[in-house]
Amino acid sequence: MSDYLIAPSLLSADFARLGEEAVNVLKAGGDMLHLDVMDNHYVPNLTVGPLVCDALRKYGIKAPIDVHLMTRPVDSLIVDFAKAGASHITFHPESTDHIDRSLALIHTHGCKAGLALNPATSLDCLEYVMDQLDLILVMSVNPGFGGQKFIPSSLEKIKKLRTLIDKSGKKIRLAVDGGINTENIHEVANAGADMFIMGSAIFTQPDYAHIINKARQALQK
Ligand code: DX5
Ligand code: ZN
Repeated sequence: MSDYLIAPSLLSADFARLGEEAVNVLKAGGDMLHLDVMDNHYVPNLTVGPLVCDALRKYGIKAPIDVHLMTRPVDSLIVDFAKAGASHITFHPESTDHIDRSLALIHTHGCKAGLALNPATSLDCLEYVMDQLDLILVMSVNPGFGGQKFIPSSLEKIKKLRTLIDKSGKKIRLAVDGGINTENIHEVANAGADMFIMGSAIFTQPDYAHIINKARQALQK
């Protein structure tokens, strides 16, 4: 399948040069930017809010920005990030009282909507909202930090989800976030994923294009 997307996660970028890093990683072949939003409440870390998304747009970033909300609650931030130029907004089912309402809010504001599933979260919450999803994001680490190790049981979950998505007949992206590198990306794609968030694997290396090309080559195998 040539339809794979690679979304570099800015979490591991140099935040002092964020605009430049975003431009460079897109030039290096990233399909979109992944922006991790953490609130030191839902997850034990604190990152950026809508004004950083807005600043990236003002800096000239035209590529899709995939906002991954790791916050509780989510509804007001959904509105704020949509206004700040997000193209995709994904949240965790545990972080809102009304999953269906939060998904609808994302669509009302013109963005693509996703649900992110933590390693221990079951697929049950998807059953009645498949129609509302553009993206399902499997967390293959516990959310909160970059540079963690891929949790192997995620592969089983990805396989189950691939079956579920194919059965639904809907065009839903199956994204994987956490511990993805050029060594394991092939196996993760084989399990059924078609969108790969990569943070530390890219940004800890001097040549982003080399890593992204290597990842694409591994996907062709
Ligand atoms: C973790 C974040 C990820 C993170 C992935 O909570 O959601 O997007 O940046 O980083 P790596 O690729 O280093 O695991
Ligand atoms: Zn993320």
